[in-house]
Amino acid sequence: MSTLVRVCAQSEIPAEGKVREFTVGGTTFCVAKAGGSVCVLDGICPHQGGPLGEGEIENGHVVCPWHAYAFDLHTGTNDEDPELRARVYPAKVEDGALVTEV
Ligand code: FES
Repeated sequence: MSTLVRVCAQSEIPAEGKVREFTVGGTTFCVAKAGGSVCVLDGICPHQGGPLGEGEIENGHVVCPWHAYAFDLHTGTNDEDPELRARVYPAKVEDGALVTEV
């Protein structure tokens, strides 16, 4: 069963083309805004645990600051290595907050 989690206040959602990291209840999330949509991914890079929430947005991907692997913001996939996939969470803005389900 999934649990609803409040990731951050709506006002804390990063600006277009930016990412931010939020840790809630022991889970670290990478929140990104690109192309007008807000995306929530696992904040821990599936490669070697780098902080995706401190990465950069490029062409609809978040680029990890450690070794520059890029993950699609909507699917979490990496174009070079199909084994590498960041978990993507549903994102919804509700009552002034960004919420997701884990
Ligand atoms: S830890 Fe993210 S690319 Fe290596």
